Amino acid sequence: MVTIKKNIYWVGGVDWNIRDFHGYTTEEGSSYNAYLIIDEKITLIDTVKGYLYEEMLSRISEIIDPAKIDNIISLHTEMDHSGALPEIYKVAKNAKIYASPQGVIGLKKHYPELKEIATCEEGSTLNTGKYTFTFHLAQMLHWPDNMAAYLGEEKILFSNDAFGQHIASSVHFDDMYSEGMFFRQAMKYYANIVQCYNERVVAFAKKAVMPHDIEIICPSHGIIIRKYTKEIIAKYIEWATNTVKKKALVVYDSMWESTDKLARQIQRGLEDSGVETSLCDLKYNHISDIMTDVLDSAAIIVGSPTLNSNMLPNVAAFLCYLKGLAPVKRIGMAFGSFGWNGQGHKQVHSILSELKEWDVSLEPLGVKYIPTEEELAMVYQKGKSIASLIENTVK
Ligand code: FEO
Repeated sequence: MVTIKKNIYWVGGVDWNIRDFHGYTTEEGSSYNAYLIIDEKITLIDTVKGYLYEEMLSRISEIIDPAKIDNIISLHTEMDHSGALPEIYKVAKNAKIYASPQGVIGLKKHYPELKEIATCEEGSTLNTGKYTFTFHLAQMLHWPDNMAAYLGEEKILFSNDAFGQHIASSVHFDDMYSEGMFFRQAMKYYANIVQCYNERVVAFAKKAVMPHDIEIICPSHGIIIRKYTKEIIAKYIEWATNTVKKKALVVYDSMWESTDKLARQIQRGLEDSGVETSLCDLKYNHISDIMTDVLDSAAIIVGSPTLNSNMLPNVAAFLCYLKGLAPVKRIGMAFGSFGWNGQGHKQVHSILSELKEWDVSLEPLGVKYIPTEEELAMVYQKGKSIASLIENTVK
């Protein structure tokens, strides 16, 4: 039994073996966090992925007879949290379901058998006896229907996908888990799921986080936060406001190692100028991991050779993913080797130029066939030029 506070329990399911969450690598697995709150009226917040229903049911049954659940609050329609809702609803026959306005629409479309769903508006409340939940709509964090619930009497924010991390663990609290791993997974989660909604995060923080005294954050994935509550809130604000470090990410694919040579020269020029760098060959690094580095990098330097008059497919996939997650206000530069026409790095430059408020003033850098010593020296200097731009941009 996982007790968060007296009468408040984690009753979720642990997805130990999941390694791919629609294209996002989940090397630490994940969990789907459901919460049970015992009061005069008994409340279940969220459920789990369908296949983990029995696990959730057994955890609930350790505490109460599941038939006694009075309220089921669905903070989010996505099936990792609502998948077991129809099953638990068959057991908790008298339960009333609550969801946001978009959540009501979403749940009815996903599960037509759920007939009655009450709508929670921004700031509306649900009293269960000695406890009152206050609802805050969290539109586009990361679906239109997301919602959070604040339990003022216990200073707990049930934040749903916000503040989540994909972590499977037999311990459920941040003070019992690796600090480094917790923050790295929270950052990866933000970079891959929340990043494109930065402005929404700031708006959400203003209405649902800042006005409340929050001791514990209960997200819908991963570890419950009670030690690093202030720190993770500060990190969210930092990430949401595009706060970057004097750091550059060099990301590329290569065919015959010429573009690889260019990448390494750029990286060395940056490093020798005192800029923190990451070098990622797309053949060996997953785009969802690279995105974690994008989150706090001031410069994103992207390289591709030319294949069949195009950039390499790995680079195209990275740029497509990057464009979707829409980081703003970065320095971008393209580079690559080529044999005859050299379209690859020019295409990269063209896509980087489309990104919002990106500085792509550095000319794309192309080198024919294998770079000479002189060309490598020139590319090294280009790394130094990028470093100067970073130095002038990041204060
Ligand atoms: Fe964790 Fe958007 O579901």
